[in-house]
Amino acid sequence: MSKSFDVIVIGAGPGGYIAAIRAAQLGYSVACIEQWQDPHGEFKLGGTCLNVGCIPSKALLASSELFENTAHYVSEHGISIKDVGMDVVRMMARKDGIVNKMTQGIEFLFRKNKMNWLKGHGRFVSASAESVQIEVSGAGGAQIVTGRNVIIATGSKARHLPDVKVDQHIVVDNEGGLAFESVPRTLAVIGAGVIGLELGSVWRRLGARVKVLEASPAFLAAADEGVSKEALKLLSKQGLSIALDVRIDAVKTREKSVTIAYSDASGKSQTLNADRLIVAIGRVPNTDELGLENIDLSVNERGFIDVDDHCRTRLPNIYAIGDVVRGPMLAHKAEDEGVMVAELIDGQKPHLDYNCIPWVIYTAPEVAWVGKTEQQLKQEGCIYKVGQFPFAANGRALGMGHADGFVKMLADAHSDEILGVHIVSSNASDLIAEAVTAMEFKAASEDIARICHPHPSLSEVMREAALAVERRALNI
Ligand code: FAD
Ligand code: NAI
Repeated sequence: MSKSFDVIVIGAGPGGYIAAIRAAQLGYSVACIEQWQDPHGEFKLGGTCLNVGCIPSKALLASSELFENTAHYVSEHGISIKDVGMDVVRMMARKDGIVNKMTQGIEFLFRKNKMNWLKGHGRFVSASAESVQIEVSGAGGAQIVTGRNVIIATGSKARHLPDVKVDQHIVVDNEGGLAFESVPRTLAVIGAGVIGLELGSVWRRLGARVKVLEASPAFLAAADEGVSKEALKLLSKQGLSIALDVRIDAVKTREKSVTIAYSDASGKSQTLNADRLIVAIGRVPNTDELGLENIDLSVNERGFIDVDDHCRTRLPNIYAIGDVVRGPMLAHKAEDEGVMVAELIDGQKPHLDYNCIPWVIYTAPEVAWVGKTEQQLKQEGCIYKVGQFPFAANGRALGMGHADGFVKMLADAHSDEILGVHIVSSNASDLIAEAVTAMEFKAASEDIARICHPHPSLSEVMREAALAVERRALNI
């Protein structure tokens, strides 16, 4: 007899493991199938985010920022340090330690919530309105398990360039780019998206000469134009060389280096030699060997599983969440969809406002936003007001030595409802949370303008930007 569960989740990334925990909290019997193995062949929970995504990248961003500040900027504070050194192996060991702590933390949560971790690859075998059969093939052979409800949370994988082999040594994607054993002298990055900018920043701070090649003529096209302009200026000033509007013509990999032939914005042929190349041109949904054909589900032309606003597929007891479905490929979006689906299975009426999902790029300064950009509002014909305030006029930012950037608030010209908030600054990832809360509560810019903010703090800039919507900023 095959084992049966109320809920089976395929994939234990932030979407899957959070869905599993919420379903277990609600009293359901839960199994989660996860196939991820580390380089030593050990099964791991946590998915892309914990193993080769959010967590290791933020650990390396923190280490490299500390190194750069110590080597170049502490003298402004009157501190002198001689011989600042860099031990990449130790930096990587710290990162691996954090990843281990986090993935073991998820194992603890599985035990605490009495969830079953089925180690191996999950593949649909059959489905009816009452139950779904899934084959799990792992180290110990194959077994069939049955679920009353199934949540597909199989995530995404790096998109690669056609005909360019990613060997994770000279040519790497996010996995190799988070694990170089030494600092490359020269590093090429294809794609000036989130990964390109974050990993490009890590290795530049550690001493690599980094050139980023981006196909789009616009830098960070999804961000507000004011923000992307400011971010491009600041990142370029730091020494990150970013070429826009390029076309990659050929990539030739050698034993110890790589050559990229490309056409620049004017159409002129260029050659770039580098010790390493990171390919960061987006991610594709992962439905490899999932057996969707066995249950009459298919993927759309972009490879995603189609779902409605509540992550329901066309089959009544099968849901899909996270990177494998439409919407931004972000861990917190996957998590919130996981909670929503578990509560939906429980008969509750959860709702997720996709307009209130924040974005953060963890460069220095950070870039963060929520809601609409100015160009989107223009396109929609919306009449809006803008308030903007610079960190250079904030005492805390000056004291911290992080006075770059601004907060820009967009509000409806008639109702004053906040429509979007865009930040370039240190700690933007934390500051944006106030804007998300305000937008979830349909706040007006006047609400933030009237709320007392601690002094001195970076958050005062949010209030000043809100005041600036009505041209009454106080400190400028
Ligand atoms: P995943 O995390 O991809 O997990 C899917 C899991 O399913 C995997 O563990 C996989 O092994 C498993 N799986 C797949 N198929 C099967 C199968 N058939 N059987 C069994 N198991 C299966 N997002 C942020 O919000 N903030 C960040 O700072 C951030 N940084 C990032 C940095 C990098 C370098 C990368 C690559 C991504 C980053 N992301 C970040 C994106 C984030 O990692 C993803 O959006 C998030 O992990 C998606 O969660 P998920 O649960 O949908 O999928
Ligand atoms: P991305 O979509 O952010 O950026 C890819 C970039 O590559 C785009 O600017 C695109 O125009 C460019 N590109 C595509 N094809 C190209 C080509 N042939 N030549 C040159 N440039 C090309 O994707 P990225 O950076 O790979 O990250 C994937 C996803 O992972 C992100 O979209 C995001 O959802 C998630 N992520 C989130 C992070 C965060 O929240 N801080 C950090 C890292 C990743």
